[in-house]
Amino acid sequence: MTMGEVGPAPLALIDSFGRTIRYMRLSVTDRCNFRCHYCRPAHDSVMCEGRDPSKQAAMSLAETVRLVRLFVALGVAHIRLTGGEPLLRRDLLPLAIALQALPGLEDLSLSTNGFLLPSLALPLRQSGVQRINISLDSLDPDAFATITRGGDLKQVLQGIDAAVTAGFQPIKINMVVMGGINDHEIPAMVTFAGQRGLMLRFIEAMPVGNEGRAIMGHFMPATVIMERIQQHFGVRSDLPYQPVTEPIGAGPARYHHIAGLGVDVGIISALSQHFCDSCNRVRLTAQGELVLCLGRSNRVDLLTLLRGGSSDQVLRDHIVAAIRQKPRQHEFDRQSSQFVAHSMPSLGG
Ligand code: GTP
Ligand code: 5AD
Ligand code: SF4
Repeated sequence: MTMGEVGPAPLALIDSFGRTIRYMRLSVTDRCNFRCHYCRPAHDSVMCEGRDPSKQAAMSLAETVRLVRLFVALGVAHIRLTGGEPLLRRDLLPLAIALQALPGLEDLSLSTNGFLLPSLALPLRQSGVQRINISLDSLDPDAFATITRGGDLKQVLQGIDAAVTAGFQPIKINMVVMGGINDHEIPAMVTFAGQRGLMLRFIEAMPVGNEGRAIMGHFMPATVIMERIQQHFGVRSDLPYQPVTEPIGAGPARYHHIAGLGVDVGIISALSQHFCDSCNRVRLTAQGELVLCLGRSNRVDLLTLLRGGSSDQVLRDHIVAAIRQKPRQHEFDRQSSQFVAHSMPSLGG
């Protein structure tokens, strides 16, 4: 190779700390039909119904597939569709069909608030989505409506039933645990998941955006969550939970099997015990920005390059260079008033 020639593209995306990127969280829309307190403000100041008019138009299906194809060719094997609420995207089903056909993709999954699952669970399964994670912060209809600012628990529970019927495996329930708000429901949630054969994850609140920061007063650490389960179910202290050693999914949860209950419970402890050393993921927003870490603000605009006529090779070079800028770890800090200035609805967690 002579000076100036472009070498062969690398087959893997490896950051400057030696971590291989194999998981992309693809936000397909900023919009959401809920307004969870820890995620989205009661009224959007700039955004109009979740859409920010100052931003460029969201990626089309063709643009999304072109960018994702490049990532998959570079070794990304897991794609998780997120939002906002991904089921609000009109062309979600054709998008899923196009993505699941990408050579090299091993796993297509989706995270949803469940509200539109009664009608969409089966079509999603038929479009190639294999796994589904559903947010559920309360089993009490009034508390659920308060946390989500108007969400209808009954329809979300119907959505969970529809996901079971459609054959998703596994189905994971996500509960953001907030002290004084829903922490008393931890045991009920374990029972609920056990009865339906669902996995359950308890998530520590994260100070992302103003809403995330505001909820930190209700922060509950992973150790306290596990103690609550132990106390309630009377699990022997010398045999508390069996750690699950084989990986379940592609994300950061650490799992324990609760003997006797038949439930796998995962904990996502971004603050009390972070998992950045083994981070394998990046995020792509609906506006085509590559977000290198949920807990740091840097991002790289790929869509403007694409719309400016860049070739695949140029886009690939920018992706590879961006991955080298991936930060070592997040900057979340529970004590200080500091927060990470992402908009959570535009990242989908
Ligand atoms: P699987 O393990 O493949 O099922 O996916 P997942 O757990 O990564 O997906 P999900 O969308 O259900 O995310 C669960 C929670 O994990 C959400 O609160 C996300 O914000 C959080 N999460 C996922 N990836 C990261 C990450 O890289 N850093 C942090 N801090 N949180 C993350
Ligand atoms: N802290 C922790 N989890 C959050 N999520 C959204 N905002 C936050 C936050 N500030 C979660 C949702 C959903 C997942 C995709 O991200 O509850 O389960
Ligand atoms: Fe709630 Fe998810 Fe919508 Fe945020 S994106 S308001 S967490 S349902």
